[in-house]
Amino acid sequence: KKLGVVGAGNVGATVALFAVNSGLCDVVLYDIVEGMPQGKALDILQNTAVLGIKASITGTNNLNELADSDIVVITAGLARKPGMRRKDLLMANAEIVGGIVNKLAPICPQAIYIVVTNPMDVMAYVTLAISGVQRQRVIGMGGILDSSRFKTFISMELGVSPQDIETLVLGGHGLYMVPLVRFTTVKGIPLSKWLSQDRIEALVHRTREGGAEIVSLLKTGSAYYAPAQSTFEMVKAIILDEKRVLPCSVYLDGEYGAKDVFNGVPVVLGKQGLEKIVELELTEEERTAFANSTEEVRSMIRILKE
Ligand code: NAI
Repeated sequence: KKLGVVGAGNVGATVALFAVNSGLCDVVLYDIVEGMPQGKALDILQNTAVLGIKASITGTNNLNELADSDIVVITAGLARKPGMRRKDLLMANAEIVGGIVNKLAPICPQAIYIVVTNPMDVMAYVTLAISGVQRQRVIGMGGILDSSRFKTFISMELGVSPQDIETLVLGGHGLYMVPLVRFTTVKGIPLSKWLSQDRIEALVHRTREGGAEIVSLLKTGSAYYAPAQSTFEMVKAIILDEKRVLPCSVYLDGEYGAKDVFNGVPVVLGKQGLEKIVELELTEEERTAFANSTEEVRSMIRILKE
């Protein structure tokens, strides 16, 4: 399988590293900065020699080298700086992502797009609109990362392995995300039996601010190891046709009461990309939170359409 990675910055290069080391695909790493993707590709190739893996990775400044990719991961764009809101990134990144997808769509007729660039739900919308592919083939990465952050904080609080924690975070990738506490269990036991309501709320709050917490610590960029691992999880589910149930941002056409918008919901990921949207019965409160989150994404799409 061929994986095209657009943007060889922190997230893109790390996705390329994970993908190459998995041995599951050949990788082409693209960026506009001259020499940079080539240098990182060579570095990643040399790491495979240490591991003794036979793998292929090429760095390029020519989008045509991504032709016939089976999966395209889009990470190109500007990263959020301290104090910068996701919305501020909107216009600049829509132009970058739209321009790239416009060039890739004709040369990657089979590709499944995984969109990472923020504001991710909106960039996924732009990717779908410009590529003109079926909605099964454009999937945004957000929910896996948000769920992993929630799991991490629960694991730290309880001193238990994240392996034993199940959770689900719905909604847009941002302050309007909807961590579903009701579906959060530790070894099958509801989180509410392990922690007080106050502590749960504190962890939910920290999860919502999870990206900002790392931005403020790093001062020079945003998180990329967990984002790249989350993205690779999606790549793997598609390549291996795993049919995993994972929270991802997909185009909603009536599901969860939302239409013509991307938002994070549980989906089945397999070789077709989005194979199924898993519809959960939400409580009144969860439905309202999800609708607010949808409205946030929609308002950014409106700004773009103006
Ligand atoms: P970065 O700044 O390290 O990398 C971005 C790369 O895009 C740079 O190398 C830059 O040269 C490249 N680029 C810019 N314009 C381009 C163009 N027209 N064509 C090709 N490449 C271009 O940023 P990082 O940390 O890798 O983040 C990438 C994006 O992913 C950001 O928008 C960030 O906000 C987003 N992100 C999303 C997450 C999510 O959960 N959906 C999580 C983490 C990051």
